[in-house]
Amino acid sequence: MTVAVYAGTFDPITYGHIDIAVRAAKLFDRVIVAVAEETYKENYFSIAERLYLMKQCFAAYDKIEASAFPGLLVAYAREQGASVIIRGMRAVSDFEMEFQMAAMNRKLDEQIETIFLPAQNQNTFISSSIIKKTFIAGGSVQGLVPPVVEDALMKRKQGKSILP
Ligand code: COA
Repeated sequence: MTVAVYAGTFDPITYGHIDIAVRAAKLFDRVIVAVAEETYKENYFSIAERLYLMKQCFAAYDKIEASAFPGLLVAYAREQGASVIIRGMRAVSDFEMEFQMAAMNRKLDEQIETIFLPAQNQNTFISSSIIKKTFIAGGSVQGLVPPVVEDALMKRKQGKSILP
């Protein structure tokens, strides 16, 4: 049984992330889509809100689960019995940082391999930041994020609560 961890900030999750997770689930027995709690980024949605959205996005997929982890990704992967870290690659601009992270993770634990999946063409320009900026400015993000995320963006804009 091969377990893979797909980690990120997912603030919020987009169809780009979902595509990577779903394709990873065709390659591995179990895929854990995990929110890193410490990323030095200023967050728009709390960890609990991001997890809530991710759980809804993956509810229909038996092999995919959503979770969150503190500290090091390789430590979390080890704890979960995962031997693979999944990363999506959108463009050449992603390469340098991804290569650096993969090298550091390998240095930290050489038993865990990083595997890159190329983003589909229609997702190469999407990032969580561009989704937030577009939505806040009044633009449509339909087709780029699931309806549940669109709904959460609207609620955040209106100052309404996102969690049930
Ligand atoms: N579709 C859409 N967007 C994508 C994408 C895809 N396929 N792939 C990447 N992105 C976007 C994300 O939305 C995100 O956008 P944002 O910057 O606007 O938020 C951006 O690309 C970065 O992606 P993300 O996967 O969130 O990476 P990150 O650089 O924020 O975080 C972690 C990387 C969380 C995996 C890394 O910081 C980590 O492992 N942290 C834990 C601590 C640790 O182990 N540190 C040592 C690691 S070397």
